[in-house]
Amino acid sequence: MKLLVILLFSGLVIACRGNLPPKLLLVSFDGFRADYLKNYELPHLQNFIKEGVLVEHVKNVFITKTFPNHYSIVTGLYEESHGIVANSMYDTVTKKYFSDSNDKDPFWWNEAVPIWVTNQLQENRSSAAAMWPGTDVSIHNTTPSYFMNYSSSVSFEERLNNITMWLNNSSPPVTFATLYWEEPDASGHKYGPEDNENMRRVLKEVDGLIGNLVQKLKMLGLWEDLNVIITSDHGMAQCSQDRVINLDYCISESSYTLIDLSPVAAVLPKINRTVVYDKMKTCHPHMNVYLKEDIPNRFYYQHNDRIQPIILVADEGWTIVLNKSSQKLGDHGYDNSLQSMHPFLAAHGPAFHKGYKHSTINIVDIYPMMCHILGLKPHPNNGTFSHTKCLLVDQWCINLPEAIGIVIGALMVLTMLTCLIIIMQNRLSAPRPFSRLQLQDDDDDPLIE
Ligand SMILES: *[C@@H]1O[C@H](CO)[C@@H](O)[C@H](O)[C@H]1NC(C)=O
Ligand SMILES: *[C@@H]1O[C@H](CO)[C@@H](O)[C@H](O)[C@H]1NC(C)=O
Ligand SMILES: *[C@@H]1O[C@H](CO)[C@@H](O)[C@H](O)[C@H]1NC(C)=O
Ligand SMILES: *[C@@H]1O[C@H](CO)[C@@H](O)[C@H](O)[C@H]1NC(C)=O
Ligand SMILES: *[C@@H]1O[C@H](CO)[C@@H](O)[C@H](O)[C@H]1NC(C)=O
Ligand SMILES: *[C@@H]1O[C@H](CO)[C@@H](O)[C@H](O)[C@H]1NC(C)=O
Ligand SMILES: *[C@@H]1O[C@H](CO)[C@@H](O)[C@H](O)[C@H]1NC(C)=O
Ligand SMILES: [Zn+2]
Repeated sequence: MKLLVILLFSGLVIACRGNLPPKLLLVSFDGFRADYLKNYELPHLQNFIKEGVLVEHVKNVFITKTFPNHYSIVTGLYEESHGIVANSMYDTVTKKYFSDSNDKDPFWWNEAVPIWVTNQLQENRSSAAAMWPGTDVSIHNTTPSYFMNYSSSVSFEERLNNITMWLNNSSPPVTFATLYWEEPDASGHKYGPEDNENMRRVLKEVDGLIGNLVQKLKMLGLWEDLNVIITSDHGMAQCSQDRVINLDYCISESSYTLIDLSPVAAVLPKINRTVVYDKMKTCHPHMNVYLKEDIPNRFYYQHNDRIQPIILVADEGWTIVLNKSSQKLGDHGYDNSLQSMHPFLAAHGPAFHKGYKHSTINIVDIYPMMCHILGLKPHPNNGTFSHTKCLLVDQWCINLPEAIGIVIGALMVLTMLTCLIIIMQNRLSAPRPFSRLQLQDDDDDPLIE
């Protein structure tokens, strides 16, 4: 019945909107920790959610850093499979280095195909980007039709103006667009997530930007037909001067090359690997040390040449340093099973339910959902489409309370029917003599057959 209604309704919606292709705007506010939503006032975001859907926790991928997780959102792949395994990388074969300020070599990105490239291979569709890691790189010889070179000094207003202009009047139409903003990550690092006063101020600003976004889309008449996803790459943990692990106390810097430092250090030994490993292993009780082949399976972080022979993983809130390195009050990159590392996801638009709350999905599940909304065939990926079915109006989904309700309802109907039958039988059989005998006859029937 419900299925029928949904089918009829979606048929109606499609008929009414003609054959306009679906459009999707993907927004990331970097470092937006899931529980900021519970702990701070965010009226504009809450309004957005009231008319749309909310996923309270998005389990992201290890390592919980910016470039790797942004690439997982748009490819549906674990880091070992999409190849962006850190913000700082080294490839031993080609001797190439990658960093967030030296990221334009397609070599690093070409192990996967991001959704904006796939979208443009469809006839009459283009993609646009007001920043997002990788959108200013020619991946598989393709950039978005409209994009900006990354620059943190371009204001949110300019990013918003340009992306909405591209969404409003380009031909072929822009059907997939991204918008990226550096906060609340930058302030989370600076003050730490537990600095309520500063974080309240910063999150109020971020919420104001969400208000501007919605207002702008309404003003241009884009709000009703556009699907908008607001999400993030990771959360933030509180760090402290008292929780540092100084590698220099344990091993000489001359015995290894450090590719990445904290909270997950990537170590390329210059001398015997076992010797380096043994010295680091006993360095600090709050630091896990893994040979590459022993990295836990649950991290899906092993099968790639860009993952170094030894990795060091600090416990939540701990920082790995060398004597000289500086320190932050907030950081991320830790174990992706930690709640503090998780972002959230909110979405609004014709593809999504209104006023639906969901507890959790994986960050790699976002990609198959976006492909579904845009009508694209997804590349092989590590996401599961069914995890997001409850968010979508054109899908049939049973959640646990609903399922229990259906089972209880069915049991009640069955019980009532049984009672009715018994009552009827009693009524029919009561006046008849030898009814006991009759019943015994009935019982024998199956045996005779
Ligand atoms: C692409 O767009 C052009 C002009 O808007 C139109 O004539 C053509 O039929 C479209 N092609 C497809 C496959 O939709
Ligand atoms: C935004 O669009 C304006 C007007 O077309 C253009 O002058 C400006 O360079 C664009 N900004 C960026 C960062 O691309
Ligand atoms: C981005 O930067 C490159 C190199 O500096 C330049 O050639 C290109 O025109 C820029 N693209 C845009 C869209 O600004
Ligand atoms: C948006 O597109 C509509 C229809 O093509 C046009 O009338 C309007 O001027 C555009 N607005 C902006 C701000 O470009
Ligand atoms: C590395 O050191 C270990 C233990 O000291 C030793 O058994 C092993 O043979 C060494 N390997 C190489 C390649 O030198
Ligand atoms: C780091 O600190 C240790 C212990 O205080 C000291 O022995 C070492 O020389 C220092 N290394 C550097 C590079 O400053
Ligand atoms: C993730 O997906 C890729 C592409 O399909 C596949 O090669 C890889 O084995 C998957 N990883 C896991 C852990 O299933
Ligand atoms: Zn980030």
